[in-house]
Amino acid sequence: MALYAIGDLHLHFQSELKARSQIKGRVWKNHEEKFRKNCAKMIRPEDTLVLVGDHSWGRKMAECEEDLQYICDLPGRKILTRGNHDMFWDAKKTNALAQRFAGKLEFLQGNFFSYQDYALVGTKGFTFEGPFYLNQWGQVMGWDEEKEVQAKKIVRRELARLSASFEAAREAGYRKYIMFLHYPPTNILEEHSAFTDMAEAYGAQQVVYAHCHGDSRFYDSIHGDYHGIQYSLVSGDFLKWKPRRILD
Ligand SMILES: [Fe+2]
Ligand SMILES: [Fe+2]
Repeated sequence: MALYAIGDLHLHFQSELKARSQIKGRVWKNHEEKFRKNCAKMIRPEDTLVLVGDHSWGRKMAECEEDLQYICDLPGRKILTRGNHDMFWDAKKTNALAQRFAGKLEFLQGNFFSYQDYALVGTKGFTFEGPFYLNQWGQVMGWDEEKEVQAKKIVRRELARLSASFEAAREAGYRKYIMFLHYPPTNILEEHSAFTDMAEAYGAQQVVYAHCHGDSRFYDSIHGDYHGIQYSLVSGDFLKWKPRRILD
């Protein structure tokens, strides 16, 4: 029995792959086939796979059905969190989504799921991604302050959702937590953030995140041990479509 995670499948069986520079290149060629084969090799029926957001390019449910069916057909238990591109998933309608896919997919949003004696908690998260203004040496000299104000509002909302998830698990008696975010827990200016503070306050053992694509972004946030918590980036292109083993 093992717990695996990966994020950012960006499936597009029914929608056009958007021409974004960060999701181009060899690693994305037939990526859904590479991932399907890796899952078939690695994941057994008793294992759990957490998919950490950006599942589909579809802009509404009708454009995501084949993508979600592909996920349903992967081996093991599948738990999904929201990414910034998941237009099919309105956070307030998570219950309806859970009912629709009952017995096939589980949706982590303000709730929690158990894995052995761990609680899997999470939310989309958020981090201010600029625009940052750089000088000729690539040093950050400033940023868009209006966008930063908007970002702070979203961060507050996401922190409330994350706290609800931790609290639900704590009230149910759990004391061991794995925390999942779609966005990285810190941005390029931060060493720590309200998300890393919350992970520490609740005593999370691991923080798992995705969203960062391409060599130039993979190290935007924390990797490995920070204040006794293990941080892992699991975006699919970073992992070359091999799910990362989080727990045995
Ligand atoms: Fe993504
Ligand atoms: Fe994303």
